[in-house]
Amino acid sequence: MSGLAVVGAGSMGAQIAQQAALHGIDVRLHDQRDEQLRKATESNRGHLNRRVEKGRLTAKDANAAAARVHPTTNLDEAVGDADVVIEAVFEDLGVKRELFAELDKLAPAASVLASNSSTMGISRIADATRRPKQCVNMHFFYPVLVMDLVEVVRGPETSDETVDRALAMARAMGRTPVLINKEIDGFIVNRILHAATQEAYRLLDAGVAGFEDIDVAVEKGLNWPMGPFRLGDFSGLDVTYRARKHMFETTGDERYRPSPRLEAKVQAGKLGRKTGEGWYRYPKADN
Ligand SMILES: NC(=O)c1ccc[n+]([C@@H]2O[C@H](COP(=O)([O-])OP(=O)(O)OC[C@H]3O[C@@H](n4cnc5c(N)ncnc54)[C@H](O)[C@@H]3O)[C@@H](O)[C@H]2O)c1
Repeated sequence: MSGLAVVGAGSMGAQIAQQAALHGIDVRLHDQRDEQLRKATESNRGHLNRRVEKGRLTAKDANAAAARVHPTTNLDEAVGDADVVIEAVFEDLGVKRELFAELDKLAPAASVLASNSSTMGISRIADATRRPKQCVNMHFFYPVLVMDLVEVVRGPETSDETVDRALAMARAMGRTPVLINKEIDGFIVNRILHAATQEAYRLLDAGVAGFEDIDVAVEKGLNWPMGPFRLGDFSGLDVTYRARKHMFETTGDERYRPSPRLEAKVQAGKLGRKTGEGWYRYPKADN
């Protein structure tokens, strides 16, 4: 038994696989769709080529890293020999549970099954398998080839050995893991980000300061690379809005109610960089 399998070759899975391969790990990358595997391979090749152009990677190492990712639409072949499986399929509980039940049958009995879900604690998925002790969350950040952090979140049944193996895999991939001992909505990073973002919207809605000044205050005063409004434009205001709405609906806490000004932006289709305008305007050449 050796190596890593990544299931789901979308925005996250493709780069999780490539990141591991850049650190010498052989990876099988699975998706149900051939077309998606082709896109993932092409996109990863583009990232590697840009590193070569910038002198940050030799052409030989880029070729080796590309060759270490083995795409396959056959799930059995993908996970049959894996030490660790990282799931990165759609954020849908039913899809994930069905997949974990399948992984439980196909992956070696000793392998760890990890989910990259941003919102679903592993306890909601692990009982679809006969090995809940070997299930854990490994939450990577987008874009995985750039963002260093992995939140390793243990569920109530996750064993110490599984936690250690998830931490070790993150480190072997050249990423910095942190351990979260209790399942909690938003884990660490998104909770802190949401709290800061919510306060920024409160200040804006109360007319305390304009959004540009709030961004400048956070960027210069806290040394964050982007203030909450600039970051919202970067990730997509629809994403920020949905996250706020999810927190409000699940907790019923008024403090999480999405700002009316954010809601208005989303309804007007001003979603940030991807639509050319959000809080700021983005001339086409900058997109
Ligand atoms: N996008 C982000 O910023 C981000 C950040 C952290 C975590 N996540 C989490 O990562 C996961 C994937 O997100 P994404 O943005 O990469 O999604 P995506 O839609 O880009 O990719 C999902 C991929 O999974 C494939 N897929 C779906 N069902 C499958 C199945 N049963 N078997 C095999 N492949 C299947 C799809 O064909 C698709 O290629 C989600 O759980 C999400 O919460 C996303």
